[in-house]
Amino acid sequence: MKIFKNKKNLIKHISQIKNLAFVPTMGTLHRGHISLIKEAKKKSKNILVSIFVNPKQFNSKKDYKKYPRNINKDIKILEKENIKFLYLPDNKDIYSFKPVTPIYLHKFSKELCGKFRPGHFKGVINVVNRFLEIIKPKYLFLGEKDLQQLILIQMHIIKNKIKTIVVPCKTLRSNTGIALSSRNLRLNRKDLKIATKISYFLHNNKKKLIKKLIKNQKKEIIKKIYLLGAKKIDYIEAVSFKKFKIVKRIKNKLNIFIAYYLNDVRLIDNL
Ligand code: PAF
Repeated sequence: MKIFKNKKNLIKHISQIKNLAFVPTMGTLHRGHISLIKEAKKKSKNILVSIFVNPKQFNSKKDYKKYPRNINKDIKILEKENIKFLYLPDNKDIYSFKPVTPIYLHKFSKELCGKFRPGHFKGVINVVNRFLEIIKPKYLFLGEKDLQQLILIQMHIIKNKIKTIVVPCKTLRSNTGIALSSRNLRLNRKDLKIATKISYFLHNNKKKLIKKLIKNQKKEIIKKIYLLGAKKIDYIEAVSFKKFKIVKRIKNKLNIFIAYYLNDVRLIDNL
């Protein structure tokens, strides 16, 4: 595996590759990332993974500092997966140039996580836009666990007529049903149990919960999730996949989106 810490060297190596598959990550790789890599392998032999904990998408310095990092283990995992290219930039390499493409932030960025993490999606689109300009991949692999992020990146790509194709990848769950996330590493045993109970409750009652959410009977649901052990709930909403906005009445395809805290660990999911 070739490791690049500098975009100039990276560009020199990859600029002739036509079917480059790009998997952006913030490291601390888990089975969820591996499933993105597996999807990438279906499209191309030339896979580039990036590991960069992007400071601009954290709205709290404490959260940025506490974000788990495990670069040596990550490199071993990627080598085992036969990844050809790893881009490991520092802040300067990413932020010391002015991208040609402007950031496009659809108004959906103000909903859900956007309401509770001001600046977060602007930070995400900023870094992804830079990656796309440096790497110019044919494919971009993104997890559906961060569905709002995926939709906003897709909208940015469409608006700016960027040629990269977004490939959405299914959320991977632990055998107890929790959506895999690097942040899960920061949960203790008790909190993992609570997360399992919450996930179980949401999955088992999905239809009923959606009906209640759109009838504005949210209080009951929130009370139940607190009873299960959540420390704080940022939101729980029924969202239409198609229209990408919070809906007031039943539409055909609705999903539950939730963000809540266990101790100081913020978890999100959609189902
Ligand atoms: O989903 C993530 O890990 C990050 O938001 C991303 C897409 C790598 C941008 O920093």
